[in-house]
Amino acid sequence: MTIIVTGGAGFIGSNFVFHMLDTYPDYRIVCLDKLTYAGNLSTLEPVMDNPNFRFVKLDICDREGVYRLFEEEKPDMVVNFAAESHVDRSIEDPEVFLRTNILGTQVLMDACRKYGIRRYHQVSTDEVYGDLPLDRPDLFFTEETPIHTSSPYSASKASADLLVLAYYRTYGLSVTISRCSNNYGPYHFPEKLIPLMIANALNDKPLPVYGQGLNVRDWLYVEDHCKAIDLILHKGREGQVYNVGGHNEMRNIDIVKIICKALGKPESLITYVTDRKGHDMRYAIDPTKIHRELGWEPETKFADGIQKTIAWYLENRRWWETILSGEYQNYYEKMYGSRETLG
Ligand code: NAD
Ligand code: DAU
Repeated sequence: MTIIVTGGAGFIGSNFVFHMLDTYPDYRIVCLDKLTYAGNLSTLEPVMDNPNFRFVKLDICDREGVYRLFEEEKPDMVVNFAAESHVDRSIEDPEVFLRTNILGTQVLMDACRKYGIRRYHQVSTDEVYGDLPLDRPDLFFTEETPIHTSSPYSASKASADLLVLAYYRTYGLSVTISRCSNNYGPYHFPEKLIPLMIANALNDKPLPVYGQGLNVRDWLYVEDHCKAIDLILHKGREGQVYNVGGHNEMRNIDIVKIICKALGKPESLITYVTDRKGHDMRYAIDPTKIHRELGWEPETKFADGIQKTIAWYLENRRWWETILSGEYQNYYEKMYGSRETLG
């Protein structure tokens, strides 16, 4: 079994690469990643010498390069994590989001059609459903909730989802889609809420909370997301969408306070700043379908997961400090300066 994992040098993709290599010692995992600002090759250092692992620096929009890789590897499955993933960046500059998230998805699926594939899996997000009001705790996103996006990021992810379902219906491509809630855990890029707050708190810097910090996100430990995707790949029904989330809704301000407490930092570091434009109020996943059909359940409780995550950031200071200093971007040259690349 050969699986191409795109975006495997990013947060969830790298955790998925580790999960798959650990769980299936006879699988070949080929990581395709452009190494944008969010891709960090040093994250993959522990598996670089694994004979079942290959890293290829490549843009998913590079049709020629992607086709060449498919010709070489003849993958059985593709899991597409590669994306521009940060909502704030999409508000500043939407274009690259449309290019990577939509057109890149098209290139990958065209390659799947051309060379044949057992399964194409699209890693999507609960943000495609828009948001829920705070005063209706009885409402949740199901797979039937209409697409109703708020940001250029979520619009690009929703567009990709529609394209994936179109390739299923029109060409019979074997596809699945997972729509997950907010992940947290090791290797989370320190521009996102949890790692940013941990890094700033450790450096005694202000903790910028948007608006009043009352927005609610439904947090899932990254390993639980990886296990859900693994199950969908092996047992999910083609053409289906699966929501992934663990009924763990938290207000932003409460998360930031937990982080302050765990690190022994004063709440006076919290600084309320101008709200995000079009800021989604509440996300909440109904995971009934994946539980009922595939038996998936989150294993890590938030109280444990957040302490594990904080401990990871304390133990792996160098990982995020090299990101903050920009030094991590030289890692590719160091590792790959003299090796061949595709595309
Ligand atoms: P990330 O930003 O940490 O990583 C994205 C990775 O994709 C990086 O390694 C980057 O170099 C790579 N990449 C970007 N553009 C590329 C391109 N054109 N070609 C090849 N590689 C490219 O993102 P993440 O948080 O790990 O998210 C991974 C996926 O999961 C995304 O599709 C995102 O929409 C989805 N998702 C994320 C969350 C979350 O909470 N982080 C939740 C649900 C779904
Ligand atoms: O729900 C899944 C989505 O979760 C994924 O599709 C996205 O790729 C991922 O980035 C994440 O999106 P969010 O916008 O929810 O995550 P972020 O960490 O950027 O923000 C979480 C909440 O915290 C949100 O309400 C905005 C707020 N926030 C964020 C930052 C970075 C702050 O208050 N201050 C901050 O500095």
